[in-house]
Amino acid sequence: MFPESLQPWLGAIIAWLELGFLVLVLLLTLVGLLLWIQDRFIQKKHAIRRNFPLVGRFRYFFEHMGEFFRQYFFAMDREELPFNRAQRSWVYRAAKDLSNTSAFGSTKQIGAGRVVFMNCPYPTLAKNAAETLPIMVGPHCEQPYVARSVFNVSGMSFGALSRPAVQALSRGAAMANCWMNTGEGGLSPYHLEGGCDIVFQIGTARYGVRDSEGNLDDERLRQAAAHQQVKMFEIKLSQGAKPGKGGILPAGKVTDEIAAIRGIPAGQASISPNGQPDVHDADSLLDLIHKVRDVTGKPTGIKFVLGDSRWLEDLFLAIHERGLESAPDFITVDSGDGGTGAAPMSLMDDVGLYLAESLPQVVDLRDGYGLSDRIRIIASGKLINPSMVAWAIAVGADFCVSARGYMFALGCIQALQCNRNTCPTGVTTHNPRLQRGLVPEDKARRVAHFHDNLVKEVETIAHSCGVSEPRKLKRQHARMLNSNGESVPLDHLWPTVEAGIYLRSLGITPCILSLSGWFAPSAKVQRGALLKACWLPLTFKERQQRVRTSLEDPEGAA
Ligand SMILES: Cc1cc2nc3c(=O)[nH]c(=O)nc-3n(C[C@H](O)[C@H](O)[C@H](O)COP(=O)(O)O)c2cc1C
Repeated sequence: MFPESLQPWLGAIIAWLELGFLVLVLLLTLVGLLLWIQDRFIQKKHAIRRNFPLVGRFRYFFEHMGEFFRQYFFAMDREELPFNRAQRSWVYRAAKDLSNTSAFGSTKQIGAGRVVFMNCPYPTLAKNAAETLPIMVGPHCEQPYVARSVFNVSGMSFGALSRPAVQALSRGAAMANCWMNTGEGGLSPYHLEGGCDIVFQIGTARYGVRDSEGNLDDERLRQAAAHQQVKMFEIKLSQGAKPGKGGILPAGKVTDEIAAIRGIPAGQASISPNGQPDVHDADSLLDLIHKVRDVTGKPTGIKFVLGDSRWLEDLFLAIHERGLESAPDFITVDSGDGGTGAAPMSLMDDVGLYLAESLPQVVDLRDGYGLSDRIRIIASGKLINPSMVAWAIAVGADFCVSARGYMFALGCIQALQCNRNTCPTGVTTHNPRLQRGLVPEDKARRVAHFHDNLVKEVETIAHSCGVSEPRKLKRQHARMLNSNGESVPLDHLWPTVEAGIYLRSLGITPCILSLSGWFAPSAKVQRGALLKACWLPLTFKERQQRVRTSLEDPEGAA
């Protein structure tokens, strides 16, 4: 087959290859033997390796690789957490502007907690569909904000996110006419470059608006507000993934640029305090909101994950005492199962109510205390597919935000490495080699497509329920399955609360409350006593029952 002249060469090559193979086998055997001795006799840390030298090492390798391979080979479509393949694929296809129709039938499990929308025999025809109109936030501010979209980008800091990720989100949000929240890491040039509306988050470390001691610096606050694009300020009290714990940015991610934007030293882990330093009750919280709004002239709200809701009632009563202008202009309710760049597992898993329970509570309290026209509610937590956004709006949210949905639109593959600077898709790493994969121009289009397609499909759900646009969805349009397999209408689970009914059930009016603030030496004590005596000892459900009774029998109500 080979010319005769080449045969000696070929023989020599084969002989060298044989020799090379032999040396390789000898080397591997030697290395294997050394590792075996190390595992068995020298190292004392790993029991598995002492008992099963060499072979025991494969356990760590497979454990690590399993994280990646499970999602491709073994996990079913609806199995993975925090987001399963079906949920992620919906986002990927929406972001690429591909058709999102499926064939043959639903694979969604029929189980407790599933929400089903109530279709109408006479769905809204295309010609009768209405546009979702912009809504104003902060009507009492010098510069109120008219927000155009119901679906916006949730807080993720530059630091947790990479530069190209922030650039792509900023450009994509501008194309989609939605806002982007800076997260707690301050405002960077990359947030501004796309031209989108921006919500500036003031985290517990006040990055970007702090003085050298970490206090809120009025001058820096004014400078932040001077950017026309910055439309609102959000004071973060807590975040779903880590209530009671501050932001954590590992040292490897604190580059010179990030350190300069945050106002902290480079190369050291950036750990924020676990709460707003000067906020410890309703009055100090309202003072801080007032200060930020006063200095900036822009709507100012708060973000938290709900635990016990009594503090919120105290806050709402305090607002009536001070006057409606004192209220936060918006409340962002984050879910206990929210995402994060880095957080302890016990907080992530086990602390804070999920949105399914906290959103209706916050909406009902706001409405029951007569603040529905004053405070906008923003829902946050796993709202990455149209049905969940439609559910949140039906329950009473004015806006929805998503963090991880937009990360998927940027190409995130749920590698769960946001805390390690090794994100393979460049979304949460500052390693330039990995960032190279994320091209902002391309991903900006995906961000906008994801937004547009999601909103379009929420509209489709609304039309199927017979209403002309998403904000007309109400609790009666959806039911939730219970563990018996029966569905219960959302308005039975959470009956819509009449405006101001909690105040009336307490037997007080905002007017009396504010007068008590004028005449009593300590209105705060009075307010506390009032709440403690007649309201707070009751559970939320008991209060709902009492409100319901007072609706049925107004004479008998307190
Ligand atoms: C990478 C990453 C960084 C985040 N950074 C912040 C932050 O700086 N401030 C904040 O309030 N929330 C932060 N969050 C939480 C989100 O804003 C959001 O509240 C939470 O993830 C729930 O929304 P989701 O389910 O749409 O992700 C972050 C989340 C992720 C995934």
